[in-house]
Amino acid sequence: MNPRRILVTAALPYANGPIHIGHLVEYVQTDIWVRFQRLRGHRVVFVCADDTHGTAIMISANKAGVSEEQWIARISEQHQRDFATFGVDFDNYGSTNSPENRELCAEIWSSLRRENLIVEKDVEQLYDPVKGTFLADRFVKGTCPKCGAADQYGDNCDKCGSTYSPRDLINPVSTLSGAQPEVRVATHLFVELEQLHEFLEQWTQSGNHLQSETANYLKGHFLGDPLRDWDVSRPAPYFGFEIPDSPGNYWYVWFDAPIGYIASTAQWCAAHGERLEDWWKNPETEIHHFIGKDITYFHTLFWPGMLHKAGFQLPAKVHIHGFLTVNGEKMSKSKGTFITAETYAKHLDPQVLRYYFASKLGPRLDDLDLSFDEFAKKIDADLVGKVVNLASRTAKFLAPTGLSPEYPDDGGLFEYGAKQGAEIAEAYENCDYNRAVRLILELADRANPFVEQAAPWKLAKDPEQADRVRDICTIGINLYRQIIIYLSPILPELAGKTERLLGTPITHWNDASAPLTGSSVAKFEHLMKRIDTKDIDAMIEDSKTPAAEDASAEATAPTWNDGPEALAAEPLTETCTIEDFAKVDLRVARVVAAESVPEANKLLKLTLSLGGDERRQVFAGIKAAYQPEDLVGRLVVMVANLAPRKMRFGLSEGMVTAAGPGGAEVFLLGVDSGAQPGQRVH
Ligand code: MSP
Ligand code: ZN
Repeated sequence: MNPRRILVTAALPYANGPIHIGHLVEYVQTDIWVRFQRLRGHRVVFVCADDTHGTAIMISANKAGVSEEQWIARISEQHQRDFATFGVDFDNYGSTNSPENRELCAEIWSSLRRENLIVEKDVEQLYDPVKGTFLADRFVKGTCPKCGAADQYGDNCDKCGSTYSPRDLINPVSTLSGAQPEVRVATHLFVELEQLHEFLEQWTQSGNHLQSETANYLKGHFLGDPLRDWDVSRPAPYFGFEIPDSPGNYWYVWFDAPIGYIASTAQWCAAHGERLEDWWKNPETEIHHFIGKDITYFHTLFWPGMLHKAGFQLPAKVHIHGFLTVNGEKMSKSKGTFITAETYAKHLDPQVLRYYFASKLGPRLDDLDLSFDEFAKKIDADLVGKVVNLASRTAKFLAPTGLSPEYPDDGGLFEYGAKQGAEIAEAYENCDYNRAVRLILELADRANPFVEQAAPWKLAKDPEQADRVRDICTIGINLYRQIIIYLSPILPELAGKTERLLGTPITHWNDASAPLTGSSVAKFEHLMKRIDTKDIDAMIEDSKTPAAEDASAEATAPTWNDGPEALAAEPLTETCTIEDFAKVDLRVARVVAAESVPEANKLLKLTLSLGGDERRQVFAGIKAAYQPEDLVGRLVVMVANLAPRKMRFGLSEGMVTAAGPGGAEVFLLGVDSGAQPGQRVH
């Protein structure tokens, strides 16, 4: 068989919230497929990235008081940590805010221009007369026109779930200034998708690029009518890439997001001395996208259309999965079923979730349910009880002797398992993991009675039966290994432990058709534990937050791991008035000189500039936390009207502000870039 050359992508998660177990359905599904293909000897590159642009991210960053760049850097770190925890192993994890992506967007854009696919149209949009900018839907709030709920965003209502245009809101206000928005005309850029109708009809309806229900859905919902123009620009302010030939306008996030697949591949190519054309402009490469059903439209109409017109390779297949529910319902924060990857991993073993999802995933778009009763049963009864048990009941008898020099007669069990490999592989290939798992467990159901009846633990008491015990266990452990090879795309960690136990790596799917003989067996180490339902309860408890947050569940702020400890250690002081606060004159200041005071073990002497020639000398107790040379040039916040104090080393003319208990745990207050020395802090 010729090795295939395969590029695989999973959807790019939005950089406005943590990875949760719903997302993991997709990333686990994709990672399993990648590992399977590699085990079959194919060449696979697996890329992903954070999807970083758009208004939701601007708002999140703004709320957190950081720049968009800082926000997305932090989220990217969390996302990558979570993927690693769940064994999702990308070859490259990029960002749609990368220079590679900007360049590719420009390239594809000019192709679309050249093909005369871009048209300009005037769109009525709300405008903030105070700030002088157009307002994205999410920058307008008002009363829901359907149910009358107050304080709703311009695109949809949290309370009744209806969607509408921001112009329909009752008493709309701009969240930027509080002003009442006006309706103004803005010019937007559109892709005339109808020009691609014939191509899309053909691509979606033939060639097996889509699951049949997706092809039918597109035919029924979109392709029967002329395709509507796609609005791909947004006026400033927008966090994204400015359109080179349309200053003041930005590509809409869904324009640059899928191009992020190519940009992430480009980064991988650069790091590995490969050429991007070989992966994206090469008919020999199979491109496979994995996505959830909610983003079908973008990946099956716009995206193939764009690729086609820009001369890129089209996907061989877009694999679409359904949505995860928990205990039969949509994930809910108040019920504690909106579980982040991080919280799950605090309480339960990540690899068993991979197994559970695999056992539920089929080739169709059906939603799948995580039922905790079933979860515990599948792990305990199937995985630990039937699979791991095969090793724990046989391996320990082999540690002293190693495996029999020849594979004993097992009545055809191993051979049957080897023969089943083809059918199991086909199930994996078709993303029918549920079927793959059933076929594999059937092998365990044949192996277990054999070990049960032969009962090596009884025979082992009789020294005369030593050879027989070794033969039985050689069979048992080989049947176990065969099963583990088949399960290894799903359970890479268990596969790794098995490799170490038997001192033999799993390098190819076909390893499952050749039994191991004569080799040594390591001391048996614990492989996997049963589910303790107390851990599930604790995880749910840990995931509970007030009901009010449910509506925005899919777009929550990231977890910063901030505990309440600090506040408890130092409770808030009594209320003060704004006038009280105004007595303290806080100013932005630049550190122009810093030196350690040799006679004082805590103090640094700082010279602060308040702009112009205004200088202040301040002694600050931050020696254990900062090197003087690191401070020079940075901005701090100082109390500028503090009564000067004479100290042993000189006059201190103010105070720099800092947080923390003291000693090395001192954190100077910083100021975002742009602030000027001398500016007052209000
Ligand atoms: N940023 C877009 C994708 C851009 S791809 C060029 C996006 N991001 S997302 O974070 O909302 O979702 C990422 C993937 O996770 C999507 O494929 C989505 O369908 C999937 N899922 C999100 N919630 C899910 C469930 N509850 N269940 C299953 N999949 C889920 O969409
Ligand atoms: Zn409503």
